[in-house]
Amino acid sequence: MSQQNKKIVITRKLPDTVEARLNRHYDALLNKTDRLYGSQELEQLVQNADALLPTVTDKLDSDFINGLPEGLKIIANFGVGYDHINLDAARRHGIVVTNTAGVLTDATAEIAMLLLLGAARRAGEGHVLVSTGRWQGWTPTAMLGRQLAGQKLGILGMGRIGRAFAKRARAFDMEIHYHNPHRLEPHLEQGAQYHANIRSLFQNVSFLSLNATATESTQHILNARSLQLLPHGAIIVNTARGDLVDDDALINALKNGRIAAAGLDVYTGEPRIHPDYLKLKSVFLLPHLGSATIETRNAMGFKAIDNLDAFFAGDEPPDRIV
Ligand code: DGY
Repeated sequence: MSQQNKKIVITRKLPDTVEARLNRHYDALLNKTDRLYGSQELEQLVQNADALLPTVTDKLDSDFINGLPEGLKIIANFGVGYDHINLDAARRHGIVVTNTAGVLTDATAEIAMLLLLGAARRAGEGHVLVSTGRWQGWTPTAMLGRQLAGQKLGILGMGRIGRAFAKRARAFDMEIHYHNPHRLEPHLEQGAQYHANIRSLFQNVSFLSLNATATESTQHILNARSLQLLPHGAIIVNTARGDLVDDDALINALKNGRIAAAGLDVYTGEPRIHPDYLKLKSVFLLPHLGSATIETRNAMGFKAIDNLDAFFAGDEPPDRIV
């Protein structure tokens, strides 16, 4: 199918195969240098466009969406999360918003596993020790971490990614507990224990993974009060969004040892991160790598294009949010 008369503004450099397909089918305004556009610049670029293909690094607030041209009626996001897009404003203007649900699941669950192992087994600290030439050799008591086998893992947000992570953690002999607004069907639960509230989840697990969507109600869901519910020495991982965590509270709990370690892939205000994380040995930090595999980034791009194709063909886009 060709929509060569439709102008699509793409905000970041995408994988080559994705850009090639965009070029084949659309009048695609690519961002070859991958420079991050400011809101005003992007506002100019979209003036004659029919669609916008943004991603997590673009802040599409209500002012920006109010300023979109009349003819632009679809925002096809490259990514599953859409907390950077003001959906109410899009709704008001009759703009369709789509995401790329489903194709990031395995890659993100793999990163969650890496964070869990990295935090529990002190991988970041160990890497620095060896790579800076300071390792003095094996000892029976140095750098002891925590074993995953036999431990209880709490998953806050048992959607696709949460469930894919649970599957991997089960293979490490962990016992799975979870909280969701609604209990899952048994075939999705796969034996995981449901907790109707966060208090019960936090009180019953020694490892906690944040997999919930970032919304007003999940903002700072991990805070000074909820951290107190976890047992002393708990380990936390976050592959969802930085906004779920009150950084000051987590840093304080890491400093005083209440929380033994944290594995983080996402941060409030990223790429800037709270400077105290950088001073702590008990953190294992990654630069938002959840979906960063070739297979996944290609699949994300193709899904975004599938959504555009369906929209311009007059069909319902498969991943429509608004
Ligand atoms: C998403 O898709 O929301 C991720 O955070 C970007 O990989």
